[in-house]
Amino acid sequence: MLATVLLFALPFCTAESASSYAGSTVVDSYPPPGATNTAIDTYFPDAPQVGYAGPTPTGAEPAAIVTAIPFSKVENVFPLSRPNSADSADITFNVMRHWGNLAPLYSVESFGLSGASPVIPEGCGINAVHLLMRHGARYPTSGSGVSDFASDIHAAASDEGFSVTGDLEFSATWTYKLGAETLTPFGRDSLFSNGVAFRYRYGELLNAFTDLPVFRTTSEDRMVDSALNFAAGFFGLGTYETDYHQEIIIEENNFNNTLAPYDVCPNSNTADIGNFGGTQGNKWADIYLKDARKRLQPMIKGFNLTISRLVDMQEMCAYETVALGYSKFCDLFTEKEWEGYEYYVDLNFWYSYGPGSPTAAALGLGYVQELVSRLTHTPINVWNSSTNSTLDSSNITFPLSQPTYVDASHDVIISTSMLPPPSSPMPDY
Ligand SMILES: *[C@@H]1O[C@H](CO)[C@@H](O)[C@H](O)[C@H]1NC(C)=O
Ligand SMILES: *[C@@H]1O[C@H](CO)[C@@H](O)[C@H](O)[C@H]1NC(C)=O
Ligand SMILES: *[C@@H]1O[C@H](CO)[C@@H](O)[C@H](O)[C@H]1NC(C)=O
Ligand SMILES: *[C@@H]1O[C@H](CO)[C@@H](O)[C@H](O)[C@H]1NC(C)=O
Ligand SMILES: *[C@@H]1O[C@H](CO)[C@@H](O)[C@H](O)[C@H]1NC(C)=O
Repeated sequence: MLATVLLFALPFCTAESASSYAGSTVVDSYPPPGATNTAIDTYFPDAPQVGYAGPTPTGAEPAAIVTAIPFSKVENVFPLSRPNSADSADITFNVMRHWGNLAPLYSVESFGLSGASPVIPEGCGINAVHLLMRHGARYPTSGSGVSDFASDIHAAASDEGFSVTGDLEFSATWTYKLGAETLTPFGRDSLFSNGVAFRYRYGELLNAFTDLPVFRTTSEDRMVDSALNFAAGFFGLGTYETDYHQEIIIEENNFNNTLAPYDVCPNSNTADIGNFGGTQGNKWADIYLKDARKRLQPMIKGFNLTISRLVDMQEMCAYETVALGYSKFCDLFTEKEWEGYEYYVDLNFWYSYGPGSPTAAALGLGYVQELVSRLTHTPINVWNSSTNSTLDSSNITFPLSQPTYVDASHDVIISTSMLPPPSSPMPDY
């Protein structure tokens, strides 16, 4: 049946001129400050208090990973607007797929193994699944280049010499609407739907549990939010709070945490050792953004469009799109420049959290020890990595016989715990 949705919107228009508020930060807050929740019980009873739920018989658990061919793929980014590039030459070119770690999740054909399939071969079964996943789409981290870019634009806009034309004209009235660190609505959506997908693929493994599952995450706001959205998708909003245990590992300096190990590895956050990727990426940015600088600098007066500012603008495209649904920064750059940006992100990861980093293996070690412990059902008894002995020596907080493990983590843990053999050189562009 066709559902019809009627939307009544009241448009309003204001004349826009070059403004002194360009680049200023805009913050909204919800719920409204005066709102209270006290009437909730009297006027808005919960479903169990209301009753009359109707019949609720359950069915069998799905097991699509064993049975479903063809395997369904993640492709959808609704409700985000798919951005164009500056040349728009090839409509199959998808700017969003060139955002490195900031790209919305999508399925790849294979991981370089041609003919490989995620589906369990016929005649085989599955005993357990170990999921290590990234949190959902987020705002930029605190003190990121994009917020610096905004404040520099704002400072420049107050000076008389500032003016913008052509493709950059929009920035005369552009404001910075991004917060920091927390999940965006799209990030919530992806984690919820990943939870739903996981139930379709591996739901049957729930039958092998003898106690409630223990899923893990870290204490950061977006990490907890990601884990809960996943669980709500996997178990359902009505029951997820009582269907499993959510373990929340402290993420902070000097706390051991295999899902955020950089806090216990002193060398991992220093620019000339563990974070060498930034240096390597910047060298490449000088090359791939040279033409963009020549093209765009004439469109902005009173503001030095340095190479690092151009990188910020590419990141702004990614962050604004996942937070606001669209971004005017995206189509300032050509397809080639988007490919350049992707390689820039690759260089950052390779030399900070990949085979080119001297600290990457130490960061990934803790999760790998946990994985081996779970796969072999053997407790960890040497504490020489980011593992927390209090948590991991207990069979309550670190059970070894679960058929399903779900760990919400950061992208850099995925890259550092899946390292190829050491000292592989970064493949050329
Ligand atoms: C280990 O985890 C426990 C439980 O969260 C916490 O109290 C303790 O401070 C942690 N220890 C370290 C070294 O991280
Ligand atoms: C812009 O910044 C670059 C890099 O820092 C610098 O070399 C150049 O002199 C600056 N140009 C102007 C006009 O300030
Ligand atoms: C940590 O301990 C394990 C088990 O004894 C050992 O195999 C490994 O080499 C140690 N790793 C480090 C970095 O000390
Ligand atoms: C935290 O990690 C350090 C370094 O591996 C280790 O020496 C220490 O015992 C660990 N602390 C706990 C509580 O696991
Ligand atoms: C968990 O550990 C306790 C104490 O070491 C032990 O008595 C219990 O049998 C263990 N439970 C499981 C399920 O392994």
